[in-house]
Amino acid sequence: MQTFDWNKAIAQASWMGMSRRSRTATIAASLATLGFVAGSAFARSPVPEQIQTVVNDDGFGNPHGLGNRFGNSFGEDLSFGAQSGPFTMSDAPLGEPGAPASSRPGPVLAGSAIANFSDGLLVVDADSGMLLRIDRGSDTATAQLDIGVGVSQLVVHPDGRRAFVVDRRHDEIVVVDLSSGLSRVDAYRTRAEPFGVSLTPDGSTLLVTTVADRSLSALDLATGLESWTLEIGPEPRGVAVSPDGREALVAFLTTGAVARVVLGGATQRASYVSLDAGTSRSPVDRARFVVTAGASRSPGPVDRALSDEGRSFARNAFAVGYVGHGLAVVPHQLSTPHLAGEGRVESSGYGGGDGFVAPISHRLAFLDTPDKGEGSSTRVAMASLLLHQPRALAYDARVDTLYVAGYGSDNVLAIANVSQASARGAWTSDVAVAGEACGPSGVTVDGSTGDIAVWCSLSQRVVWLGGATTDASPSPIRHTEQLANSHLSSAARRGRAMFRSGNNNKISTGGAMACSSCHAEVRADGLSWRLQGNNLQTPFLAGRLEGAHPFKWDGMDPTLHDSLINTVRRLGGSGITSTEAADIAAFLKTVDAPRVPTVDDIHAVARGQALFSGEVTGCATCHSGPLMTDQQSYDLTADLGKVDTPSLVGLATSAPYYHDGSAATLDALLRGNANVHGMGRISKLSDVEIHDLVQYLKTL
Ligand code: HEC
Ligand code: HEC
Repeated sequence: MQTFDWNKAIAQASWMGMSRRSRTATIAASLATLGFVAGSAFARSPVPEQIQTVVNDDGFGNPHGLGNRFGNSFGEDLSFGAQSGPFTMSDAPLGEPGAPASSRPGPVLAGSAIANFSDGLLVVDADSGMLLRIDRGSDTATAQLDIGVGVSQLVVHPDGRRAFVVDRRHDEIVVVDLSSGLSRVDAYRTRAEPFGVSLTPDGSTLLVTTVADRSLSALDLATGLESWTLEIGPEPRGVAVSPDGREALVAFLTTGAVARVVLGGATQRASYVSLDAGTSRSPVDRARFVVTAGASRSPGPVDRALSDEGRSFARNAFAVGYVGHGLAVVPHQLSTPHLAGEGRVESSGYGGGDGFVAPISHRLAFLDTPDKGEGSSTRVAMASLLLHQPRALAYDARVDTLYVAGYGSDNVLAIANVSQASARGAWTSDVAVAGEACGPSGVTVDGSTGDIAVWCSLSQRVVWLGGATTDASPSPIRHTEQLANSHLSSAARRGRAMFRSGNNNKISTGGAMACSSCHAEVRADGLSWRLQGNNLQTPFLAGRLEGAHPFKWDGMDPTLHDSLINTVRRLGGSGITSTEAADIAAFLKTVDAPRVPTVDDIHAVARGQALFSGEVTGCATCHSGPLMTDQQSYDLTADLGKVDTPSLVGLATSAPYYHDGSAATLDALLRGNANVHGMGRISKLSDVEIHDLVQYLKTL
């Protein structure tokens, strides 16, 4: 595999505008810490007097009763500054004055959970593992093919005869013949854990992202073989190829950047466009989340050298897509783990703010790279969205309209004139049927009718939005029956719906935060949040819970149930019932540990394992048992009284490390911080031994 130093590349991408202090602080930066590089320009905002009085003093610092829906009804005196609708540009739009030339929708090249083909719809259902075919006019699946639980995306070849389906668990792209029903005709091997897929416009090549192996690979459809592979960074998800076939963009859950790869040359190289950088260029974006009472006061600029506060990190970019005029769009989330407000009374809510500044907001990035060659510069403009966890998108070229679905808010937003200077929010439509959670994970537009089809991943239905124009919201809204059987118990299904539900006052203040805002896919955002005066890293949850009690870094929650009840209290939610906590726990336990990357050198791993369990290091005395924790707490750090031995499952994906995120990489942990944390006797280890130990730790 060609490797490339994406750490360094992203550092360069986000280097501009950094203060000297933050440069030194991030010198040994990993992607996670790099998020700090491009922070908000505003660290301190004045606290409006009236709001201070609503801050309750239950010890959790979150005001309750601030309205039902985020940005909707925040009380009479309160309104969000510049946020005026479901879609608000924070920067000057990048689009051109006129509509793009193409009035015919091109083939959809980027993978999705749902796609159109001549006879109807195809859907991949990650829950049951089925590929489903829904012929036009049918309300049920007319054919199905078992691919495997976790099936992530599909794309239909422009010839309309074949679909390529990504089997995340078995490392394959399954080739399916569509001529009648669904038949599996071939499968191409991929690297470990494929997720995103996109076709090149000439239909010759598939680009595939892999999660565990952190790569982007090209598969030649003539041979089914890999023509190149590039290591691109942790947690890649969606990929899209530009309509002219000259570049590919990749979205990530945790890097805060979009990778850009120029196609067609002899060698491939990734460069990175920082989505965090937009926060430093775009004061409006932060200002808009400052609740103004009466006469609005805008926050003044602050010297970032003085404070880490207010820095924001782009997270949870699942998808990337192209619209007209060669523009690309990336829906994502902006997290601010240390809210501004130095000098305020320290509160204990997540982000440490006073609860009325939402530490999480949702955005759409516009990217423009007019000359798509190597080294060409990319302009970025941001828009804020009133969708929760926007992740799926579809573009209708005929009307230059983009549809974005909110996974956490069960709605679809239409952005009219999306590739023009006049881009505007046209309408928002709910997609939940009869109050049942939808969890949209894919959207597509019918090429002939313009109807919008949404895949509800939680209820396993397709919801159609018909009759929409750029000015009128859709009606009627039709839906299919439940199309497949869930592999989860009904308790786990309820827990899954709750885990991702945004705009839910039960879970967090104003519904601003969902569990999946910080633990997307039951993983972790790689950020350290200020909580009760400490800096605590979001723990990786998948595969690390069952048998790992007690919970929280200080080990103060004896059971998962207690941990969930307390988490919700800290998030400022009005609270969940015991049954709801049990539902969430049931769901969390169904999620597998992350896949490990492909091992390059099994001998190094074996040597590392021997070191780990040997007496020189003593690692296994504390990291013992199936989850590699003795479930005890130790007095190792200055800030927390005691810290619970964490499970080491999934270490390759869970960077950064330690309760405060102070070790950016495993190598850094073993070289410096392990001594600081007093964890083991490693100061005598040689470079080779440290390398071997790291290789082993990555396989856990
Ligand atoms: C704002 C980001 C954020 C949100 C939202 C969030 N968490 Fe967490 N989660 C964290 C952080 C940070 C910790 C560590 C806190 C500590 O140790 O005191 C944590 C700890 C946990 C733990 C303990 C894990 C362990 O190994 O000790 C569980 C379980 C958990 N969260 C589940 C949830 C659930 C369920 C929700 C939704 C109700 C949720 N989280 C919402 C950031 C978040
Ligand atoms: C005395 C018990 C003890 C020993 C011995 C020990 N650890 Fe730990 N380990 C801990 C505790 C407690 C933490 C949490 C420290 C913190 O978060 O500040 C931890 C954290 C870690 C982490 C970070 C996990 C994460 O998800 O953030 C890794 C990796 C780790 N240990 C590996 C090792 C290795 C390798 C050794 C042997 C060289 C070792 N530990 C020896 C108790 C121990």
